[in-house]
Amino acid sequence: MPLTDGNNPIAWRIEQMNERVRSAKEQDLYLYLQPAEAVNGVHVTINGCKMLQFASYAYLNLLNHPKIQAAAQAALAEFGSGTHGVRVLAGTTRVHVELEQTIARFKGTEDALALSSGYVTNLGTIAALLGRNDVVISDKLNHASIVDGCLLSRAKFVRFEHNDMEALEKALAEVPKKAGKLVVVDAVFSMDGDIINLPEVIRLCRKYEAMLMVDEAHSVGVLGETGHGIEEHFGLEDGIDIKMGTLSKTIPSIGGYIAGSSKLITYLKHSIRAFVFSAALPPASAAAAKASFEVIEEEPQRVKTLQANVNYFIKGLQERGFNTLNSETPIVPIIAGDDERAWMMAKLSQDEGIFVLPIVAPAVPSGTSRLRANVTAGHTLQEIEQAMAVFERTGRAVGVLPNY
Ligand SMILES: Cc1ncc(COP(=O)(O)O)c(C=O)c1O
Repeated sequence: MPLTDGNNPIAWRIEQMNERVRSAKEQDLYLYLQPAEAVNGVHVTINGCKMLQFASYAYLNLLNHPKIQAAAQAALAEFGSGTHGVRVLAGTTRVHVELEQTIARFKGTEDALALSSGYVTNLGTIAALLGRNDVVISDKLNHASIVDGCLLSRAKFVRFEHNDMEALEKALAEVPKKAGKLVVVDAVFSMDGDIINLPEVIRLCRKYEAMLMVDEAHSVGVLGETGHGIEEHFGLEDGIDIKMGTLSKTIPSIGGYIAGSSKLITYLKHSIRAFVFSAALPPASAAAAKASFEVIEEEPQRVKTLQANVNYFIKGLQERGFNTLNSETPIVPIIAGDDERAWMMAKLSQDEGIFVLPIVAPAVPSGTSRLRANVTAGHTLQEIEQAMAVFERTGRAVGVLPNY
């Protein structure tokens, strides 16, 4: 059947998406997938224009750090560009094991397991842990990879209102006594930048004997005085059974991990299908990730600078009248309202030299389309001021702020 046949729902879906993209491109408002010609510190060059980067997850500005570069280059020289194997068979190198030991030490657990992406880590872990007779309870704003893992697991999938502890308790209380229970939450929510109420989540999980999995994609290197993450932020020692994170945000590499008890990791090593049946991380990526965890501990001033920049940025935006929701982290939503406003404001900001991107429905609830501006330890206060001045001008131009 031809792709254009309107009676085929698959073809219709493809057509609809193509139409949306075509129309955005026609209005010069399609801002996704732009190839960078150079990435240099907090600057990115696209189409010959050098812009200040406010869209990356380089929270501690670790890209090109000499120790991390050297570690990746040494592993590339020693082991080559890939492993030609899955971890369980020919794909495990000394570097993979060292990375896992480093993660376990960093997160204060007995063991850890590294996989080829954060997305695959959530998907594979949740699916491996749960079966048809279990119940998984997930915050409504959890990342797509958690949602997809819950769906793949075939467990009963219950979602509770975002960060609402009464709703979580109600969901837990309704689970049949004998069912396996897993609560999954993001530590820092990737679209809103707010932080889960972890002490209360832990209390409820203990009360109702549920296991707890926390996704620390945006909290490692970000939260806690030394960047060790959400437990350090709340001054907690224990309480998370399954500590998930990525190697692609603060850590300038690729991959995901689970840290936890040695029994949990042994189980996952032999049960996650995306681990058992998929190739190992390239050794250079594993070595870069290991060195990054070490740099976070060796250079604690990066975390301090990041946290100071976050406060400065959020306060400055709020003083200018922007709605930044409840963000307390480097992910700062600047609410624009409808999709067009978000696209226009991002486009005008890029024209003025600030690289920021719009996030629109269905990635966020419609009516809350936004610019997601990420501040990092690499930005100077002057650069943050420069960005805020641009956002103020472009926000007024598109009606996000009053235009007086
Ligand atoms: C909260 C959260 N979890 C998981 C992921 C997936 O991680 P990765 O990009 O490393 O696959 C992301 C990525 O955006 C994320 O924001």
